[in-house]
Amino acid sequence: MLVVFGSLNVDLVLEVPRIPRPGETVLGSRSVTKPGGKGANQAVAAARAGAVAAMVGAVGDDGFGDTLLTTLAGERVDTEGVRRVSEPTGLAMICVDTAGENSIAVAAGANAKARAAAIPTQYLEPGTSVLMQMEVPAVQNWAAIDRAHAVGATTILNLAPAQPIPGHALDRLDILVANAGEAETAAAALDLPDRSPTALAAALSRAHDLTCVVTLGGEGAIAVTGRGANGYRVGALPIAAVDTTGAGDTFTGVLAAALDTGAALPDALRRAGCAAALACEGLGAQEAMPTAAQIERALRRMPAVEPLPA
Ligand code: RIB
Repeated sequence: MLVVFGSLNVDLVLEVPRIPRPGETVLGSRSVTKPGGKGANQAVAAARAGAVAAMVGAVGDDGFGDTLLTTLAGERVDTEGVRRVSEPTGLAMICVDTAGENSIAVAAGANAKARAAAIPTQYLEPGTSVLMQMEVPAVQNWAAIDRAHAVGATTILNLAPAQPIPGHALDRLDILVANAGEAETAAAALDLPDRSPTALAAALSRAHDLTCVVTLGGEGAIAVTGRGANGYRVGALPIAAVDTTGAGDTFTGVLAAALDTGAALPDALRRAGCAAALACEGLGAQEAMPTAAQIERALRRMPAVEPLPA
């Protein structure tokens, strides 16, 4: 089972010719509301890819909260661990430009009330994976890592949006998923002269005995396993991007789902990269996420995983 501890948001998506600069107003064409939040997005990506997924977090006692819970239930994601609180449901304002790039601002709202203690004890056991992101209070993530690690569950953190991680949390983490900038934040205490993604992944995996996965956008992704034992690199599936919102969530959710259902890391990496590319072909985070069958078909066009040059 994959337990996702994290955020649930309603995304207000605005299509604009270009992302506004500070102080600038840009006239766009249409706006749509979509289900989002990095936690909920990753739970949906994992469930579509075939995992048994459960969501733990908080939404407001409002219409948006109802909508998000209904959407997750429709994706066969268990929502028993999602609390209703008096704060409004989390809200994200997302501008998407004609190249599919985005800028996102989030009002945490109810997500600030997400608590690690709300993860049902019966979900935490050695066969379980616990997946987290950084849109809930960081201390709750560290507490969730402690609880999961203590029972031998696999701990996975997607460091998005980037925040420093204390060493004790990194030491209890099994898998860190980050883009290049987030990996730099995670490795800040190591004071490395070489800040290339490969050097960052290798240093983090050695210092904390964890698997570090670094996503590289259109260049694919790399991974280095604990203590730098093995390194892998995979290229990207070529696509015409409509909206990159949720691509990182799709990558992380599918990676976690594949590992949770027994895939080896190179296979999981390839599936995750393939799914993330497919998720960029439609508007919105969750709606554009592929099913297991769609991933399987597109894998034929996906580059092979190669050893990462030292
Ligand atoms: O990663 C994309 C997500 O970030 C959006 O769905 C938005 O809600 C923000 O959390």
